[in-house]
Amino acid sequence: MPVLLQLDSSADLTTSVSRAVTATFVDAWRGLGDDQRVVRRDLHADPLPHLADASLHWPPRLRSADARPPQDAERLQQQIIDELLGADAVVIGAPMYNYSLPSTLKAWIDYIHVPGVTAPFDVPSQPMAGRPAVIISSRGGIYDDGSANAGWDHTVPPLQIILGDALGMEVSVITVSRTLSAVVPGLAAEAGRAAEELAAAHRQAAEAAAAMASR
Ligand SMILES: Cc1cc2nc3c(=O)[nH]c(=O)nc-3n(C[C@H](O)[C@H](O)[C@H](O)COP(=O)(O)O)c2cc1C
Repeated sequence: MPVLLQLDSSADLTTSVSRAVTATFVDAWRGLGDDQRVVRRDLHADPLPHLADASLHWPPRLRSADARPPQDAERLQQQIIDELLGADAVVIGAPMYNYSLPSTLKAWIDYIHVPGVTAPFDVPSQPMAGRPAVIISSRGGIYDDGSANAGWDHTVPPLQIILGDALGMEVSVITVSRTLSAVVPGLAAEAGRAAEELAAAHRQAAEAAAAMASR
């Protein structure tokens, strides 16, 4: 039974672009067959606590002898990692907050990136290698090549590094920019492009899910 892990992190529960596009992906995923299962984790509605102790970045064998992470935090981390390992594919709603990730999504990354467990370190462990991760990136402004803010997106790169380079997942990114064109006067002229990007993102999300039927 194919399992999709759906992560949303937008703090906007009503008009969020990233939530709308992850929903399109999920609908298309469910449409692949009756046995398609979705595990949903809403990192905003049900936020994870910040990592309780630095030693949790490492498996017990690589921690210092005096490391004493709280047991409930260790149990929670194991649960979050098991949830990831149980997924055949992951879709992540990743809005840009202050040029970076929402802290709720960053907290999830802090739990799941454990060298020697989910990523190679002293052993070549990479259990998620080859599985797809689809990032839905939503950004209020403009970050096109050649624009004034080109290179300011620090939302997607950490996700690509951790999920792609460290965990070995096949990462793809679907981007919607200019989402604030309806509310920021200086972006009003971008409304047409914003609508085009949003329509394209929904289309790409449906196609990306459909493409997983052949995996
Ligand atoms: C706390 C916060 C910080 C934001 N920071 C930025 C930013 O640095 N750059 C930007 O282009 N948009 C920024 N935005 C706008 C969001 O990226 C935009 O509204 C996007 O559509 C959010 O995703 P969502 O529609 O899924 O909620 C910010 C929004 C919030 C709530």
